[in-house]
Amino acid sequence: MTRHLLTLDSLGREGILANLALARDLKARKGMAQAALPGGRVGLIFDKPSTRTRVSFEAAAWGLGMLPITLRHDELQLGRGETIADTARVLSRYLTALAIRTFDQSRVEELARYATIPIINALTDDHHPCQALADVMSLQEEFGELAGLRVAFIGDGNNVCHSLIQAAGYLGFTLAISTPEGYEPKPEIVEAARVNCRTNGGSIELGRDVRAAVRGADAVYTDVWASMGQEKEREERAYVFAGYCVNTELMALAAPRAIFLHCLPAHRGDEVTDEVMDGPQSRVWDEAENRWYTEQALLYTLVTGREQLEPAG
Ligand code: CP
Ligand code: NVA
Repeated sequence: MTRHLLTLDSLGREGILANLALARDLKARKGMAQAALPGGRVGLIFDKPSTRTRVSFEAAAWGLGMLPITLRHDELQLGRGETIADTARVLSRYLTALAIRTFDQSRVEELARYATIPIINALTDDHHPCQALADVMSLQEEFGELAGLRVAFIGDGNNVCHSLIQAAGYLGFTLAISTPEGYEPKPEIVEAARVNCRTNGGSIELGRDVRAAVRGADAVYTDVWASMGQEKEREERAYVFAGYCVNTELMALAAPRAIFLHCLPAHRGDEVTDEVMDGPQSRVWDEAENRWYTEQALLYTLVTGREQLEPAG
């Protein structure tokens, strides 16, 4: 059966831990993976803009000896009505793996249904699993053990929040989420993670009070108030989310060792202040760098089925 990364459910607890272990190994090698997949070809389709995902995947592919082929939606016949199924069938004949950033989660799932190569979700409206892998790698670098940590998520119950919820369920940390009313994460994602927490530990807390979520937290995480595709709601959201800015006063309620994380891009002055972004607790640049290694590990494992680097051949 072809392996994919559609949401973090595709990896589960063992798959996530294996990804993190290989990513640490690759980081120690600075992403130079001795061309582990020479001749491989990874397609990267972007229906939405990207800085980190595009460049980190391209860098990761190059270190593995793969050719990255990046395509915007309007460069493909998909944009002129060719079906997802036919696109999947054709691209499977040329490529070794395909990552796609798009709107509806069902598009990624449909690609995976018809492709004979691994399909990677590079962000949808509902999930951002590649981001969550880099996030948990950053937590692991800082604290070692993930189980027992308290992470506060402040803001919109969006794609990034959903993937962090899944990560918390599999890795057994507490995710305390504070959102305005009407912007909560999807209940079915919360419930499924709570079931996993029964086995793995941790919990998913939901509330409105940002201070209650942050109090004693080991990490404070936030993301933009209006995600890609929600530009028309920006003004309304700026009003609704006004009390959800991570500033130094809020960070002071977290544990003394607490770090600040953000998937980026950040809207400085909205969901986070300059002082926090550029302050001593911020780990956002390391977090962004970790995209490279977690994605490199992902490409390697999805294509080869191996969880540790072995010479190509
Ligand atoms: N965090 C993230 O996915 O960034 P990009 O939108 O720049 O890829
Ligand atoms: N929630 C944001 C994440 C960007 C990486 C968005 O979807 O735009």
